Amino acid sequence: MTGLKEKYKDYFKIGAAVSPRTIVTHAELLTKHFNSLTCDNAMKYSSVCKAPGSYDFAAADQVYQFARENKMELHGHCLVWHNQTPDFIFENTDREGLLETLRAHIQLESSRYNELVDSWDVVNEGIEDKRQDFLRETKWCQILGEGYMDTVFRLAKELMPTKKLFYNDYNEANPVKREKIYRLVKGMKERGVPIDGIGMQSHHNLYDPGTDEIRKAVELYAGLGVRLRVTEMDVSLFAFEDHSHLQEAPAKLLEQQAEYYEKCFEIYREYHEVIDTVTLWGVADDATWLDSFPEPNRKNWPLLFDTEHQPKEAFHRIMNF
Ligand code: GLA
Repeated sequence: MTGLKEKYKDYFKIGAAVSPRTIVTHAELLTKHFNSLTCDNAMKYSSVCKAPGSYDFAAADQVYQFARENKMELHGHCLVWHNQTPDFIFENTDREGLLETLRAHIQLESSRYNELVDSWDVVNEGIEDKRQDFLRETKWCQILGEGYMDTVFRLAKELMPTKKLFYNDYNEANPVKREKIYRLVKGMKERGVPIDGIGMQSHHNLYDPGTDEIRKAVELYAGLGVRLRVTEMDVSLFAFEDHSHLQEAPAKLLEQQAEYYEKCFEIYREYHEVIDTVTLWGVADDATWLDSFPEPNRKNWPLLFDTEHQPKEAFHRIMNF
């Protein structure tokens, strides 16, 4: 069987989010089909830094080694975020102090993984979902001020002049939010802020967003002249508000899912000149964050391989073009 990465080699890289556990349990699929990795948690601020000034890179190093041995790129995720970031970095500090802390953090992460990591999510999820507000209210924003994204991208560029710097967010195809993301990045470009691209998380479900909205988003963002990455794709079988549980994945829904993946990949192929990588948020249905979100302890089947690591219909559809 041809691997996904082979099939897509003239279009973009194929990525997966992994942990120190899944690089072992899913090694076979990873080496056959993927040529890009993202640490699902291991490189996040609170994963590497548990106490002020004290760092432990053991988990991220394991993923890095795996990527290195298998000649895969590693995408850096993520530097500035309101979640999974230690509270202590925001305590008893001011703008200058927090920037110094962030400078040291970026230096440590970027120098350690310099060899394989060519792109970073510099800011994750900085835009507010609520219609009337623009920026998400975060400690970063409170302490560094409203122009904080300009500041942190400039800092990231100073420290990593050769790396591609991304803004990453979810609901990126939603008509209201995508206009805000567009406005953010357009403004940054106009002010000469060094931003290279937009990461479209792409946590989709069968009902939302419609693939026509995905196309509009890709087209809108591509018009900014930036690089694009699909950074965290999965396709839940449940609508977001649906709390129901299923014993097994119904064939009808798996077929719908296959069609959804097929349409998305058609769009990605069409825009392959601006898309660097399409990353799935996991490898197979036996290890997905959607088994506990948004509904705790509910099985979901959002990926391209099933719980037995066999290719699903969605896989076959994106391979047949
Ligand atoms: C967001 C983050 C990811 C991950 C997912 C859920 O999309 O960017 O790092 O935490 O949520 O797994």
